Amino acid sequence: MATERTLSIIKPDATRRNLTGKIVARFEEAGLRVVASRRIQLSEAQAKAFYAVHAERPFYNDLVKFMISGPVVVQVLEGENAVAKNREVMGATNPANAAAGTIRKDFAESIEANSVHGSDSAENAANEIKFFFSDLEIVG
Ligand code: PPS
Repeated sequence: MATERTLSIIKPDATRRNLTGKIVARFEEAGLRVVASRRIQLSEAQAKAFYAVHAERPFYNDLVKFMISGPVVVQVLEGENAVAKNREVMGATNPANAAAGTIRKDFAESIEANSVHGSDSAENAANEIKFFFSDLEIVG
């Protein structure tokens, strides 16, 4: 399996509770390397654009509101099989269904305030990485 990159977002519920370092440690312990990182306040327009794929879902407006409710940490993670590995470390979207030892099981508050986002395919990862970072900002 070749080295791959994925986009991670540490969400406002986690930055609010000062969990950034604990979450990054989970990525690193799983063999993922942080090759780009920025703490930002998303604008409403940015959050709407990032989650445009969910625009028709009933939770879309609440999701956008939540994602702009505080700072987020956007990161590019690199490693073998990074997309799948990151999703394994994150656990299921709904923390009630997340496996023991995953980030969402240990830290998430709800299906909405679920602490982390991770790209769900290599193709989406490429687009999501471009959404936040230029090539020059990613140092492998
Ligand atoms: S799904 O249902 O399989 O399409 O869900 P998924 O693609 O994994 O993620 C949907 C994102 O929306 C956030 N969110 C919710 N999902 C489902 N139901 C409710 N009520 C809901 N509220 C918010 C969820 O956290 C996923 O966010 P990301 O950032 O993509 O992980």
